[in-house]
Amino acid sequence: MKKQPFILLLTIVFLLLSCNQKAKISKDEMIEKKIDSLLVLMTLEEKIGQMQQLSISRHFNDTVYDLVRQGKIGSFLNARNLAMRNELQRIALEESRLRIPLIFGRDVIHGYKTIFPIPLGQAASWNPVLVEKASAIAAKEASSDGIDWTFAPMLDIARDPRWGRIAESPGEDPFLASMLARAMVRGFQGEDLTDPSTIAACGKHFVGYGAAEGGKDYNTTLIPEAELRNIYLPSFKAFVEEGGQTIMSAFNDLNGIPTSGNEFTLRQILRNEWRFDGFVVSDWESVAEMIPHGYCKDEAEAAQKAILAGVDMEMVSQTMQDHLPSLIQNGTISESFINLAVKNILRVKFRLGLFEKPYADSLENVILTEDNLKTAREIATESCVLLKNEDNVLPIKSSVKRIAVIGPLADAPLDQLGTWAFDGRPENSVTPLKAFQEMSEGKKIIYSPGLKTSRDKDMEGIKQAVAAARQSDIVLLFLGEEAILSGEAHSRAFLNLPGAQEQLVEALTKTGKPLVGIILAGRPLVLSKIEDKLSAILYAWHPGTMAGPAIHDLVFGKVVPSGKLPVSFPRAEGQIPVYYNHKNTGRPPREEQRNITPGDPMNPVGFSANYLDLDYLPRYPFGYGLSYTSFDYSNILLSADTIGFKDTLDIEILIKNTGAYDAQEIVQLYIRDIYASITQPVKELKGFKKIMISAGDSLNVNFGLTVNDLSFYDNEGSFLAEPGRFELFVGKNSRETIKASFYLK
Ligand code: NOJ
Repeated sequence: MKKQPFILLLTIVFLLLSCNQKAKISKDEMIEKKIDSLLVLMTLEEKIGQMQQLSISRHFNDTVYDLVRQGKIGSFLNARNLAMRNELQRIALEESRLRIPLIFGRDVIHGYKTIFPIPLGQAASWNPVLVEKASAIAAKEASSDGIDWTFAPMLDIARDPRWGRIAESPGEDPFLASMLARAMVRGFQGEDLTDPSTIAACGKHFVGYGAAEGGKDYNTTLIPEAELRNIYLPSFKAFVEEGGQTIMSAFNDLNGIPTSGNEFTLRQILRNEWRFDGFVVSDWESVAEMIPHGYCKDEAEAAQKAILAGVDMEMVSQTMQDHLPSLIQNGTISESFINLAVKNILRVKFRLGLFEKPYADSLENVILTEDNLKTAREIATESCVLLKNEDNVLPIKSSVKRIAVIGPLADAPLDQLGTWAFDGRPENSVTPLKAFQEMSEGKKIIYSPGLKTSRDKDMEGIKQAVAAARQSDIVLLFLGEEAILSGEAHSRAFLNLPGAQEQLVEALTKTGKPLVGIILAGRPLVLSKIEDKLSAILYAWHPGTMAGPAIHDLVFGKVVPSGKLPVSFPRAEGQIPVYYNHKNTGRPPREEQRNITPGDPMNPVGFSANYLDLDYLPRYPFGYGLSYTSFDYSNILLSADTIGFKDTLDIEILIKNTGAYDAQEIVQLYIRDIYASITQPVKELKGFKKIMISAGDSLNVNFGLTVNDLSFYDNEGSFLAEPGRFELFVGKNSRETIKASFYLK
């Protein structure tokens, strides 16, 4: 009964706002008015309640329901199921004083029940249209289980394959990552956030988390401001520009200030410069972790630093809930900070339509539909990268009748889903073995795993695998890493194939049969020990639910491989970090210094930025990937030799499909600013197009460059272009390009 006057007042205010003013004010203005009218009714405790997110997995017991009743919770992550979600929501709406709906979040990272390739694999498709489609399917499936908000996309630039979370990342390049960020926002959020099949996106982890020293998760990051702005921030900026609703602060200490208490990144950049008006959630306990970081003396100080920096909602730890009341009472912080945070949270809840439609309905024909699986298969085929194809061993010729399917990942339904596939179920996976058994008409499939798991060191099964290979015309070898070897806190110091996989390959070479390596992994692996023994290598990442059919399509040539690497592959761990958009140094190595044999340490090769004992170039460069056909690049044409600051430089290049297959090619445009007030990368991706060209056909591909593409952030944080000479490269990867140049005046 006590609640009645408030509810009445609220209802009247909302009704007035919705009816009378609809015509006069915009949707956004109306939301702001609703927020203001709600905020004045809220007690300090209720405001702070909105700022708390708890995890059902961590906190669940009956007191949770009471906290909701008391208005002390704004959000949950990991509600167990739709019924629990709706019951918690019911309590918020019927039993709490102000009836503010809860928002339910979950890690829907690369699919919900239909699992798509890991994000690094999706990045290898260089296909934002497909990535958007996959995200839209994930949103639809997840929302039908009551999920309002996903903690994706992960937008951390990653240059270190030791870091397990590279699997979740868009790779090493800011331009490609920005395109994917936009695609994922469009996919998850759709055109209308109130549409029940869309969910709010969360750009994470803000920021620099991928630069963890030594590739160890959660580790220190030191990133100069220019590099932060030029490399690590663009994907987040694109996310905000595209309308992404939430941002997650990270675990890392950035230049001495943990990112969940970092005023420079959260307030100065995100709010003041980019005008982000959604809300910031801290990563799991990252506010409290500012104590072990050595940045806060106790939880009160952690709460204070987080709110002052711009964290709006605290995930799991409860420093704000416990300490903000006294910090306000004793005048340490002003309530205006809390008001700002609560407004940001309510804004997103209003935008999502949670006040109007707080409950989720279980929908039929949404999960794992034929269409969803078709998209999963399509994006999985486009994610695979053909690294090697000696004597065109792939696609498999019709003369091949007996195929040996070998390796620990041929029939690993859980592992093919990859990391962060929370809701993916192995029973829905179509494994390569299953696909080859069911789809290879007229072929005999001989299966022998050789090893039980990727880490298995027991060599017993290898003999049988060799016997299976001997009975075949070709061996498909499914190697790589189990899902658990990448992802959060799963960094590796050695990047070769784990377990006895190298021995398995070695034993199989003795059969003399052509060996096709199909690698399922969450990161770039160092393949140097087995590469020469394999006739072909198809890098499939963790391809998701439809791994089997996708790989089958590629191996039999129903689909021509078109993926390209979103990250450089090292030759050895000692090369890391190795990335294409590095600086030149004053003593760059030269082509003739490649493949040097270990030399006399007193007589290094040419006093350059080189190794004594290893080639300086990565094994496979960024942007690399073969096809069953070949493409010839020629006739590069620039619209001018010199452009002004307001002009666009038009670039045209002729691409000919010189092989026998209709196929897609990813045409890449790079620039280099030859000299500037701060040194510039040797190459920077500024455009790409994925195009289909029929065998024998040619196509003109066009790009445009404006001054914006030629600009960079300097050490003072200014974004500027400087006049002078630029080089421009168009090519099939970051290394094989045709070069031209022009001036900016
Ligand atoms: C910690 C991870 O770093 C983050 O990416 C994830 O979204 C949260 N846990 C919630 O599960």
